[in-house]
Amino acid sequence: MKIEPLISEERIQGRVRELAAELAAKEMSHPPVCLMVLQGAVPFARDLAGHLDMEGKFEEVAVSSYLGTTSAQRNPVVVGKLPESIRGRHVLVIDDILDTGRTLDFLHRTLVEQGALDVRFCVLLRKDVPRVCDVAVEYVGFDIQNEFVVGYGLDFQGDYRGLPYVGVFCPDGSAEGL
Ligand code: XMP
Repeated sequence: MKIEPLISEERIQGRVRELAAELAAKEMSHPPVCLMVLQGAVPFARDLAGHLDMEGKFEEVAVSSYLGTTSAQRNPVVVGKLPESIRGRHVLVIDDILDTGRTLDFLHRTLVEQGALDVRFCVLLRKDVPRVCDVAVEYVGFDIQNEFVVGYGLDFQGDYRGLPYVGVFCPDGSAEGL
C-alpha cells in the first residue's frame, strides 16, 4: 500500500486561507449556521473556522450510506438528529469531497425540509466524475481527478485521516496512472 502525495499541506493551508477570505466577503453579511459533515470534514472545517472571525454557530452532522432494499444504490441517511439551530437560517455545509453528489443532494433536500432558509456548500475537493446528482457547490478547494484520496480527514477504513496532506491511495503500492 502506498500514498502518493497529491496536495501538500502548504497548498491546503494556503487555499483554506483564500476560502476563508471568500466566505468572509460573501457570507458574513447574513452569518450562516456552519454545518460540518463528520468525520471527513473535521480538519477542513476546523482550519476554516480558525481564519473566520465569526460568532455564528458551528454544528455537525453525520451522514451514513446504506444499501437500499429495493435498489443497488447507496442512499444517504442522517445518523442521529439534525441540529435544531438550522431552522429559519442560512446554512453553509462544509464537507470533505464531492463525488457522485448523492450526499450533498440528500443534505440539501433534508435541510430545506427541516426549515433551512437556504443551503450552500463548501467542499475541500471536487472529483472529476459524472455526477449522479447535480449539486451546485459554491466554494471548492481543489478539483481532482477520479482517484481515491486519503488524508486531511479523508480515510481508508479509518486510516490516514490524520495526514496533513491529501494523497492518492494506491492499494497495490503502484503509483501508475498518476
Ligand atoms: P458522494 O458520492 O455522495 O460522496 O458525493 C461523498 C462522500 O463519499 C466519500 N468519498 C471519499 N472518501 N476518499 C475518501 O476517503 C475518496 O476519494 C472519496 N470519494 C468519496 C466521502 O465520505 C464523501 O463525503
